[in-house]
Amino acid sequence: MPPIAPAKPSATRRDRYGRAPHQIVESLSHSSQQRTKPASQSCGVAGKAFALALMLTDAFLTAPSAFAAPSALDAHDGLVVTCAACHGAAGEGSSTGAIPRLAGQNTDYLAHALSMFRDGTRASPVMQSVAHNLSDSDMHELAEYFAAQHSPLEQAAQAPQAALIEAGRRLAELGDGANVAACFGCHAIGGKGNGARFPSIAGQPAIFTAERLHEFQARAKNGAAKPGTMTAVAAQMTDAQIEAAGAYLSTLSR
Ligand code: HEC
Ligand code: HEC
Repeated sequence: MPPIAPAKPSATRRDRYGRAPHQIVESLSHSSQQRTKPASQSCGVAGKAFALALMLTDAFLTAPSAFAAPSALDAHDGLVVTCAACHGAAGEGSSTGAIPRLAGQNTDYLAHALSMFRDGTRASPVMQSVAHNLSDSDMHELAEYFAAQHSPLEQAAQAPQAALIEAGRRLAELGDGANVAACFGCHAIGGKGNGARFPSIAGQPAIFTAERLHEFQARAKNGAAKPGTMTAVAAQMTDAQIEAAGAYLSTLSR
């Protein structure tokens, strides 16, 4: 098991037990067996305590859109609650913690991302330990649940500058000459995404987008990126373009 070092989890968000994100990750790695059991199936003292906690704190968990989800999971499911501590109950994400929005993302893209974290082919100390014990069907159900959410845009503490947003819009719609292809050419108009291959990039916290783009750039340094991949696109971007893209995309709803 890799050392657990949650990057920058949201300072304020807590789950129904009042646990901060890093405490959840720790408890996940210790008690992976208990987390999926509904209270009614748990037994013994721990089970009763769990059931009591459920009754006492149900009110904090009501996410209206959850009931329309086609997923087998709802906002009360132990698995969803775990994710919600960082990603928000309706998958809205967090700009303070560079935590991506999951709401409205393509289902297969989300499920695939989770399997990459589990298999260690996508790096993230936090998500690798979260995904460590998830089964394929857990991943699929979680992906369906979050893809079906329609949460409002997460507002950054500081609104991005208008000039930055405008530069990002031009890059997204038109690209930068021969250097950088228009983002929306692959990610569709408005960054809404196109199938499982081209994720939605609209509404992501600016820091998350910037961190992802830097990660693609780092990957490009390890070998020639295949043309037409995100690694190849990111390799051509300047830091200013990354900042502008992050700012603009964070203003788009999905
Ligand atoms: C402790 C905080 C934390 C918890 C708990 C957590 N996540 Fe994450 N998640 C993150 C962070 C941070 C990232 C960004 C990782 C990166 O790209 O480096 C992330 C990324 C993801 C991504 C990739 C999204 C994308 O657009 O690339 C998916 C999917 C995801 N999480 C799903 C989940 C699910 C499902 C759960 C619950 C089982 C969960 N997460 C629990 C913090 C958390
Ligand atoms: C040639 C097609 C193509 C173009 C053009 C392109 N992308 Fe991508 N992008 C992809 C693909 C494919 C992925 C998925 C990569 C993966 O999952 O490893 C991706 C993934 C991403 C991600 C990660 C999303 C997530 O949720 O983890 C971000 C952020 C992103 N692109 C931003 C941009 C920006 C900003 C631009 C414009 C400067 C852009 N892309 C242009 C193909 C493209």
